[in-house]
Amino acid sequence: MTKRVLLIIGGGIAAYKSLFLIRVLAKRGISTRVILTRGGSEFVTPLSAGALSGDKVYSDLWDLTDEAEMGHIELSRAADLIVVAPATADLLAKAAHGIANDLATTTLMATDKRVLYAPAMNVRMWESAATQRNVKTLRQDGALFIGPDAGAMACGEFGEGRMSEPEEIADAIEAALSGVTTLDGLKGPKPLIGKRALVTAGPTREPIDPVRYLSNHSSGKQGYAVAGALAALGADVTLVSGPVALRAPERVNLVKVETAREMLKACEAALPSDIFVAVAAVADWRPAEAGAKKIKKDGTRIPPLKLEENPDILKTLCAAKNRPDLVVGFAAETNDVIQHATAKRLRKGCDWIVANDVSGDVMGGDHNSMIIVADDGADTWPKLTKEAAARRLAAKIAEHFK
Ligand code: C5P
Repeated sequence: MTKRVLLIIGGGIAAYKSLFLIRVLAKRGISTRVILTRGGSEFVTPLSAGALSGDKVYSDLWDLTDEAEMGHIELSRAADLIVVAPATADLLAKAAHGIANDLATTTLMATDKRVLYAPAMNVRMWESAATQRNVKTLRQDGALFIGPDAGAMACGEFGEGRMSEPEEIADAIEAALSGVTTLDGLKGPKPLIGKRALVTAGPTREPIDPVRYLSNHSSGKQGYAVAGALAALGADVTLVSGPVALRAPERVNLVKVETAREMLKACEAALPSDIFVAVAAVADWRPAEAGAKKIKKDGTRIPPLKLEENPDILKTLCAAKNRPDLVVGFAAETNDVIQHATAKRLRKGCDWIVANDVSGDVMGGDHNSMIIVADDGADTWPKLTKEAAARRLAAKIAEHFK
């Protein structure tokens, strides 16, 4: 189901970054509705916020039409998370003290949803005893904070007070939506430190002769994104990849292979591992006799192509003596997705199957709609970029090991 964020844009120069945040969230499959404070509307217009969020922008507590259609209670009810960005010193002070004298502050008081603040203000205002007291109070009340960052500020000073960058706020929003109660893991200690992860990605190439091969359309994008997302959470990742045109993600050990048999060998060599995620589109068959010489076209006879079965890497590692603790397979399906994925999970012996409907443009495309099938049922995720889907899968894996 699409997650919904209620974004309160406060009155600070960083408000322009919040417009960008709306776009970043949309790309990650998260919808945004905006409350623009009076101060906020001095920096960005309702028209920009509304055009980007694709929704009406709310700003006036005393607007009878708005209150009848979507009052402050309803606004918070319809959201999964409330985000205040930029969170000004004034908004933090009002929220900490229960002052409710406009739409933003009444919504903050009336909500039972988690609130994430992205503060932005002059360094002295941030360091002031009053703001620090208010932040402490809000944290004690269960609020989450992202930033502020240190750096050069619009007011010409240098120090802590810059609002975090939109991508970083979006990471915090995704973490908050997944139910975490602290964001400490985002920049600080990583939940998968000390864990080894093995990921397969891309197609395999099965030679017919030295110049020809059998393969498929896998781009490797999803597998590379999974490897990168696990590494970003601190895992020690080995990525065994078939031939693709991608750069290895940071902090990942890349092992390049061509055939299914080479991929199996590289995977076995990478064990033991705590986590195995099989994303590769391994060729099911290979030509039985790949000659050392190029097959000649003689104009009379079309050579027969005899195939034999390739090893099933996922199944083999699931049955291995040193089977990884958590094994995740992928299943590309075009119909009866959950039913086929459930059967595949049992047949292969893995813990989760990530089913994706490839009847659209998943193969080679930039988006994916995943259904995670485990022994306790199926969890359907919205259409996400392959990177966002990978981050969500990595967070779920980290949650499993908690
Ligand atoms: O059997 P099918 O190809 O539909 O299964 C898909 C899952 O099995 C994927 O996780 C894929 O990486 C893995 N697989 C494998 N070795 C094969 C075939 C598939 O690891 N020979």
